[in-house]
Amino acid sequence: MVTTARLALLAHPAGHSVSPAMQAAALAHAGIAARYEALDVAPAELGAAVAALRSAPWLGANVSVPHKAAVVPWLDSLSPTARRLGAVNTIVRRGDRLHGDNTDLTGFGRSVDELLDAAGERSSGRTVVVLGAGGAARAVVAALVDRDFAVGVYNRTAARARALVADLAAASVLVLEESELASAVASAHLVVQTTSVGMTGGPAGSPLPPGVGPRAGAVIDLVYRPPVTPLLRAAAAAGLAVRNGLPMLVYQGAASFEAWTGQAAPLDVMGRAAEEALGGPGRGWTGPLGRDPPA
Ligand code: ATR
Repeated sequence: MVTTARLALLAHPAGHSVSPAMQAAALAHAGIAARYEALDVAPAELGAAVAALRSAPWLGANVSVPHKAAVVPWLDSLSPTARRLGAVNTIVRRGDRLHGDNTDLTGFGRSVDELLDAAGERSSGRTVVVLGAGGAARAVVAALVDRDFAVGVYNRTAARARALVADLAAASVLVLEESELASAVASAHLVVQTTSVGMTGGPAGSPLPPGVGPRAGAVIDLVYRPPVTPLLRAAAAAGLAVRNGLPMLVYQGAASFEAWTGQAAPLDVMGRAAEEALGGPGRGWTGPLGRDPPA
């Protein structure tokens, strides 16, 4: 008898995630008898939920908001990336031990490399403005430090930007004050939007003050629901290379799949399943916004 292996997303809330559809498609394509489900785990239940992963048929789990940092003490070992970010988005069971990894950094890195290659943006001395200083911003800033960008971080709450910069301890990362934002954005090779502004159900509008906007280069907005935020629309209209958060989501999911199964992830199957879960094609994996050239 084949025992169905198990995988889960531990999040709170967990209902709107695209990961179950994306991972189910990948598992089916690879012929792996495993089930991936979203589990709504309240903060007080996190320890028990993680403890349950220590035996078969569990292969591991994904971890999302608000548990990425809180899960660390419940694990036996961490990858260097998870330790550097102080956050885990992937748990892999090894016997009865649980190993924590973070695939957000490689997921974002792969997405930004593709966009910059497509935009011909490979000059040295590149600058980037990162908007936001939450959990997503940490993975983004670390990936950009690794690519030798000079990074400016702007956040509504400056103290949080200062904490991020202090934690990552990289000389190439600075906090931007509001008075510096307009000129930094105008001259940046890349702008990355990591806040919840513009997200369906989140604060409306753009995280940039009126009149402030990038003039050249590329813009990534990590929001993918809706597929085009006001910031991305304005950047595309100005002729800039743009990308939403869906490729990062797919690439982090692909890296998690590979950590659990040891098999190469079927990227296009995962990207198309994610788009299907979001309502159909053209939402950032395929079509003008995505990796396909514009029709
Ligand atoms: P995540 O893990 O997805 O990054 P988070 O840690 O809650 O989520 O961070 C949310 C980010 O969105 C923060 O940078 C937050 O700014 P504050 O630190 O000032 O709260 C930003 N954000 C949320 N709502 C915002 C708004 N209305 N305007 C500007 N920034 C906002």
